[in-house]
Amino acid sequence: MKNQSPEALKACLFDLDGVLVDTAIYHFKAWRKLANNLGFDFTEAQNEQLKGISRVESLNKILEWGKVEKTQEEKQLLADQKNEWYVAMISKMTPEEVLPGTVAFLTAVKAAGYKIALGSASKNSALILERTLLSHFFDEVVDGNLVSKSKPDPEVFLKGASLLGVQASECIVFEDAVAGIEAAKRAGMKTIGIGKPEILTQADIVVRDLSEITVVSLKQLSDL
Ligand code: BG6
Ligand code: MG
Repeated sequence: MKNQSPEALKACLFDLDGVLVDTAIYHFKAWRKLANNLGFDFTEAQNEQLKGISRVESLNKILEWGKVEKTQEEKQLLADQKNEWYVAMISKMTPEEVLPGTVAFLTAVKAAGYKIALGSASKNSALILERTLLSHFFDEVVDGNLVSKSKPDPEVFLKGASLLGVQASECIVFEDAVAGIEAAKRAGMKTIGIGKPEILTQADIVVRDLSEITVVSLKQLSDL
């Protein structure tokens, strides 16, 4: 975004799982129960690979790990079963499960006049936002129900920018997944990685969580 003014930043697009809330543990528990029922197990390290990708893609990976073959119909039933267990868990989420710094940062971003959208692969985002009392921060919610191509395809973020009425170059994306950072880069957006720098190597900057970033630093980043 060289040669543009720092004022060019107009919107912040947030991934949900792993950025605003820590739902990875619930995905892991539900997928693991499914794998165990099929007679195999997988590790927390393998679970890392499921971050940011869709439910169906996650299932395909897990079945590959267990060397289990299933028909399309059987896969649908398995994905539905996992989702049932997952929804039972997230239905009990509370606002305490929002990650550190999230509410203060979203409040500051809104107060500074930037638009806010969600850009998530999840089809359960409405329930999670409602349970954690975060819904009111979002001008637009783009999730797995609205997109046809998963991250690292840029569709989810381009749709967010378009619904907000801003250009891709006017957006900053907050992401915890490698696939999500790639999606944002392909959309032509600046990226802030949430997590570990050694994993999110393609992000413009990486922070541990949203408590480590301020609206002032966003302006500096948008001027890079
Ligand atoms: C992403 C998660 O946000 O949503 C993935 O990082 C998950 O792990 C994907 O598979 C889809 O979620 P859901 O809730 O629609 O099954
Ligand atoms: Mg995520």
